[in-house]
Amino acid sequence: MQLRNSSSRYGLISIVLHWGVALAVFGLFGLGLWMVGLDYYSSWRHTAPELHKSIGLTVLALMLLRVLWRFVSPPPPAPATHDAFTRFAAKAGHMLLYVGLFGVLIAGYLISTAEGAGIPVFGLFEVPALVSGLPDQADIAGAIHFYLAWGLVIFAGLHGLAALKHHFIDRDATLVRMLGRKA
Ligand code: HEM
Repeated sequence: MQLRNSSSRYGLISIVLHWGVALAVFGLFGLGLWMVGLDYYSSWRHTAPELHKSIGLTVLALMLLRVLWRFVSPPPPAPATHDAFTRFAAKAGHMLLYVGLFGVLIAGYLISTAEGAGIPVFGLFEVPALVSGLPDQADIAGAIHFYLAWGLVIFAGLHGLAALKHHFIDRDATLVRMLGRKA
């Protein structure tokens, strides 16, 4: 499969970034909900948040790469079968997913850096705290992170359902071309 996007399908780089980030987002959401309920004596009490932060920062790096890649290799135009409304809805929806993703990730970063400490990533290196000490930083970033994460996961679920509708009801190429097959 080609690495770059073409006029009829997504290439390997976009496909791996799309499905990798999607998997990580649903995983991070589940991990986040589970870890906040852990009791004081759980052996996961420290490990789970460390894992959540490490994966979150990895996703942030992948998202920066993804935005860069869109300039290097733009996504294919909408399938010819999409009408004007579908094209607009898809564009707006994808844009919202990008904004939501960056919002959740940046808010998560700001929760962790509120006290001025850097964030270790899988124990390999540390991402420095570039922003800290803002008034109520952890609380405000925490609320944004929580509500945006819910919004993002619900919206991503609707986005997935829309893709399945295109595949099974409209029987067009929307889903297959994100699976590496030609439109
Ligand atoms: C957290 C989960 C998800 C996120 C954040 C997400 C995000 C995105 C974004 C931003 C795009 C625009 C193309 C790009 O820039 O890569 C896209 C395209 C696409 N996504 Fe997702 N997605 C998610 C989950 C899913 C799921 C579960 C499915 C299918 C069941 C799916 C199917 C598709 C398809 C088929 C396209 C191509 C649409 C087109 O060409 O118009 N996505 N997704």
